[in-house]
Amino acid sequence: MISKLFVVICILFPQVLTDSNRYSFPEEFLFGVATAAYQIEGAFDEDGKTYSIWDYNLHKNPDWVKDRANGDVACDSYHKWKEDIQLVKALGANFYRMSIAWTRILPSGHAGSQINEKAVLHYNNIINELISEGLIPMITIYHWDLPQSLQEIGGWMNPDIIDHYVFYAQTVFNLFGDRVKHWITFNEPYHICEEGYSGVSMAPFFNASGIGGYLCSHNVLLSHGKIYRLYEKLYKPSQNGKISITMDTTWYEAKDQSSDSDKEAAQRKLQFNYGWYMHPLVKGNYPAVMIERIDKFSEQEGFPKSRLPKFTESEIEMIRGSYDFLGLNHYSTSLAEPSQNFNQPSQNYDTGVQDSGDPEWEVSKTSPWLKDVPWGLRKLLVWIKEEYRNPPLFIFENGWSSTSGLMDEDRVRYINGYLSELLKAIHEDGCNVLGYTHWSLLDNFEWLSGYSARFGLVEVDFNSRERTRTPRLSYRVYQNIIKSRIVN
Ligand code: BGC
Repeated sequence: MISKLFVVICILFPQVLTDSNRYSFPEEFLFGVATAAYQIEGAFDEDGKTYSIWDYNLHKNPDWVKDRANGDVACDSYHKWKEDIQLVKALGANFYRMSIAWTRILPSGHAGSQINEKAVLHYNNIINELISEGLIPMITIYHWDLPQSLQEIGGWMNPDIIDHYVFYAQTVFNLFGDRVKHWITFNEPYHICEEGYSGVSMAPFFNASGIGGYLCSHNVLLSHGKIYRLYEKLYKPSQNGKISITMDTTWYEAKDQSSDSDKEAAQRKLQFNYGWYMHPLVKGNYPAVMIERIDKFSEQEGFPKSRLPKFTESEIEMIRGSYDFLGLNHYSTSLAEPSQNFNQPSQNYDTGVQDSGDPEWEVSKTSPWLKDVPWGLRKLLVWIKEEYRNPPLFIFENGWSSTSGLMDEDRVRYINGYLSELLKAIHEDGCNVLGYTHWSLLDNFEWLSGYSARFGLVEVDFNSRERTRTPRLSYRVYQNIIKSRIVN
């Protein structure tokens, strides 16, 4: 039966009547929505929670964020989680991807420290409620909110972090692993590391350009590999869950399709952003192009050794294959061309690629980096299939940032476009995609953009004490896609 909503959508957006409407999402394909602790929870100092690197830095430097916003209250989901779960349920989603705050579970942060029972109760309540509502909890163990106490010892640049992370991850397996069967060790290592330790757009704002990002990523990959192997040995036999890690990448398209050097630049950029993690996970070690270039530039710059750390043979083996499925966060596409016009040392110089947009592409009004280019998703999925032997993949994030308001036609266009291309990638290209997650359920704290960039299917009124939630048009559209399993 064709719903009234479908008719309205066809009138509003005739372009949705494309070929992909012939396809439907496979029966076992899962749909979900995602959030992250710092972005939605609020209650920054409640029930024993301590400061994460975001709490610490934004209290110290309020001007760094648009409108001096921070996550102190955010969506107040620490108190309103039941309402959030009802919204996920009414959407008809299969799963909810959320993260746990390290600073709640282990307020002192470090390995061997005391577990905070109030935090355990809080996350137990959420997990139990999700399950009793028939929703699968998919838990991100680390979504960027490192305890400030661990940043004081160098954070992700200090190899000691591996033991602290492993202790924290084992703690959550011990506490929740009897019910949680899908774990994501890290959200977007590129952002944790390159933006947090080589640049100043993410906490801890540690600007060690061309060095910090590589040290951090090395420790993130080692932490991931170590915890995967521990889970495999100690937990999987009884808990029987699956572990993943999710990496983000833009699709890079050659600026000039007839230029070999632009094509090469696009491939190099993909390797430096995504291959940085995917290559060690799937094939073992960093991509050759990274090793060659970073070794060469480090030597030219006079460094006594490469700025890219080296794995031992046994570390390569530990990390290779350390996943049960992989996660992809994808939002946008850029054009690539070769350039060395960057400061040295830097990851940009090492990569040697300038990216830009096409003036024809629709740009988000609130996140200028975000362009609506649905075919980029399909090209990326096909590239992943060919480059990494078609791994089982979950799209763990994809979404659009709008202004406030309930009639978010721009987001509807984005969702219809990206999901149509996803259907083609599954049916025409044979890409092994198991599920799709929309970022985000709610408008939330969008890092340095504060509350100005709104990614929610559900609008949140940040001026009301209640943080009133109201579903947008896009919520209904996604709900309809989940129900009908086709893109209308
Ligand atoms: C992150 C989210 C963020 C979203 C939109 C992703 O990189 O995982 O935390 O809000 O993109 O920028």
